[in-house]
Amino acid sequence: MDERTIRKILAEPPLGEELAVHGWLRTIRHSGGLSFLAVNDGSSPAGLQVVCEQSLPGYDHLVKQLATGCALRCRGTLVESPARGQDVELRASAIELLGGADAATYPLQKKRHSFEFLRTIPHLRPRTNALAAVARIRSCLSFAIHAFFRERDFIHVHTPLITTSDCEGAGEMFTVTALEPEQLGGKNPFAADFFGRRAGLTVSGQLQAEIYALALGRVYTFGPTFRAENSNTSRHLAEFWMVEPEMAFCDLACDMAVAEDLLRTLVGRVLDECGDDIDLFDRFIDRGLRQRLEAVRVTPFARISYSEAVQTLEGSGRSFQFPVSWGMDLQAEHERFLCEEVAGGPLIVTDYPRQIKPFYMRQNDDGRTVAAMDILVPGVGELVGGSQREERYDLLRTRMEEAGLDLDAYSWYLDLRRYGSAPHAGFGLGFERLVQFVTGMANIRDVIPFPRTPGSAPC
Ligand code: 4AD
Ligand code: MG
Repeated sequence: MDERTIRKILAEPPLGEELAVHGWLRTIRHSGGLSFLAVNDGSSPAGLQVVCEQSLPGYDHLVKQLATGCALRCRGTLVESPARGQDVELRASAIELLGGADAATYPLQKKRHSFEFLRTIPHLRPRTNALAAVARIRSCLSFAIHAFFRERDFIHVHTPLITTSDCEGAGEMFTVTALEPEQLGGKNPFAADFFGRRAGLTVSGQLQAEIYALALGRVYTFGPTFRAENSNTSRHLAEFWMVEPEMAFCDLACDMAVAEDLLRTLVGRVLDECGDDIDLFDRFIDRGLRQRLEAVRVTPFARISYSEAVQTLEGSGRSFQFPVSWGMDLQAEHERFLCEEVAGGPLIVTDYPRQIKPFYMRQNDDGRTVAAMDILVPGVGELVGGSQREERYDLLRTRMEEAGLDLDAYSWYLDLRRYGSAPHAGFGLGFERLVQFVTGMANIRDVIPFPRTPGSAPC
């Protein structure tokens, strides 16, 4: 693998050098005894123009097989391009067809395809400009997340994917079993199962991250999470990735500051490192995207309490599908109204009613709200959910009893409050919703390589 990628070649063109480039043919056109091949290798949205003289050895035979989608090895000399449209081009000395693509059946032809159609060909869609740009941005964001935490002395902890605790308590866990379907009857079938009790795929790494935060101070976990919620929306997946920092000696204000710093830093990194990809989304998917991201980078997030948010919604004169009253969970339509029309940008909503939030959130002194925060962003709605955790043993125990949790099964969680308990806080950032936010892609199924949704898990 000593060849430079097209991205590297375009960034620092080695003019006059002999190069070998591998990639897939996007388009070919012929003019004035020359053929112009647009070759893309996935490293950047821009491809390399390869120019072939039709006198090239074997070219007559080769050209009949060159079609959109075929894989090529191109050798030649990099020169300044005399034509407009590109700065440099490769003057080919040899073209080798590695894998043909029959134009009569290859599904990706030159025209733009709908994202719905592309979802039917998950094995080919990363060869399109938009899906390739999404993949590059995901990779950039993932790396930037690790860099952000590493620069701030956070320890990366690998929390388990198979677990016996249901963090969010919403009953959305997929069961993991080694039993055959016919063995699953009876009162407690899981006693004879692999783990001796019911296990499932994690909905969040938070509870285990808390264990490590109360030993190592600042930790984060970043991995896949699973929810068997039957939500067929443009913002829900059954398998999604979540970034979850957990910090000892940190309250809600500290939690919000870290989340805001993280989001603004990540947006800045994408603007700096994936500018060409962002331009593509700005042009074809979501006009004004770049300007919005530039604003996020430099503007502090607005903040509002849940109670103020409810007042704002009630006084808005809007008629919502779900009527608003104190104590209700905010719906997507309310969240979008608040951040898009009231705040005009990201908005942090704090101090939600305790009865709509999970058991682990810290009770406020008013007795009816908890130290929770959600970050809402335009186009997406809820991007981050977090809280200060209840660190007081008695209050936590009461909340757990109220939530109907088996205290024996969660004795380890209570132990953390018996031995060296400390104020601590954390949040979960939905990685795919973040990718939606920075790309403007409307549907979450198009920002993850292989979406899993109710009734759908191809390849
Ligand atoms: O608000 P959630 O449910 O919070 C938790 O799981 C906490 N335990 C996190 C923590 O404090 N460590 O989920 C966090 C975020 C949401 O704000 C959303 O961005 C994303 O995860 N999310 C989903 N993304 C895609 N598909 C789904 N079904 C999602 N459910 C939540
Ligand atoms: Mg939430």
